[in-house]
Amino acid sequence: MKTIAIISQKGGAGKTTIALNLAVAAERSGWQSAVIDIDPQASAKCWHDLRGSDSPVVVSIQASRLPAVIEAAKKNGADLVIIDTAPHSESSALAAARAADLVLIPCRPSLLDLKAISTTIDLASLAKTPSLAVLNTVPGKGGLRADAEQVLKGYGLDLAPATLGQRVAFVHSLTAGLSVLEYEPDGKAAEEIEALFRAVCAHFGWTTLLPQEIRS
Ligand SMILES: Nc1ncnc2c1ncn2[C@@H]1O[C@H](COP(=O)(O)OP(=O)(O)OP(=O)(O)O)[C@@H](O)[C@H]1O
Ligand SMILES: [Mg+2]
Repeated sequence: MKTIAIISQKGGAGKTTIALNLAVAAERSGWQSAVIDIDPQASAKCWHDLRGSDSPVVVSIQASRLPAVIEAAKKNGADLVIIDTAPHSESSALAAARAADLVLIPCRPSLLDLKAISTTIDLASLAKTPSLAVLNTVPGKGGLRADAEQVLKGYGLDLAPATLGQRVAFVHSLTAGLSVLEYEPDGKAAEEIEALFRAVCAHFGWTTLLPQEIRS
C-alpha cells in the first residue's frame, strides 16, 4: 500500500480536487483507494456524502489518528491512501507528510501562490518525504505556466509531468459528487487527471504491474 499526502499551506490550491479525482482514477484502474480527510472543513467528506456511493472510501478524522487509520486501511486491503489536508495548519500537514510515501504540492501559477509555497516545501523536507509540485488552474494561453515552472524549479522542487488546466469541469463535478472522469469522461480535465494518475503510478513503479500483482 502507498500513501500520498496532498499538502499546501495556501488555501484553495486544489488539494481536495486532486485528492478526490486521483482516488476515483485509482478505483477505475482497479486499485482500492481510500481518502483520509484531516481538514476540519471536511470538504472531501461532504463530497462523499453527496456521492451516494461508498467507492472510494472517504473518512474524516483528526490528524492525531492518522497512523491508526492508515494501518486500518492497510488491513482492509487498500492499495492507495490519499490524505487531504487543511491549509494553514503546519502540524497536521507535517503529520500527513511524515505518514506518506509521496507528497503532492498543488500550486496555482500566481505570484502570491508561488511566494507562499516555501512553507509547504519546508514541511515536505522536514518530513523527508519525496515531493512533487502539481501546477493547477494553468491557463491555456500565455507564459504563466513556463514562468511558474521556472520559479518552482528555483525552489529545487520536482514537478509532476502533468498539470491541470483552469476548467469548469473540476468545479461542477465535485459539486455533483463526481470526479471529472465520471462527469466528462472525454474532456480535457479527465485527460489531465489520468495523466497525473499515471505519473503517480510511475513514481511508485506501478506502470507494468497489475493491482493484484502489487498486493501479493
Ligand atoms: N483546475 C481547476 N480548474 C477550475 N477550478 C478549480 C481547479 N482546481 C480547483 N478548482 C476550484 O478551486 C476551488 C478550491 O479548490 P480545492 O477545494 O480543491 O482547494 P483546496 O486546496 O482543497 O482548498 P482548501 O485549502 O480550502 O482546503 C474549488 O472551488 C475548486 O472547484
Ligand atoms: Mg480542501
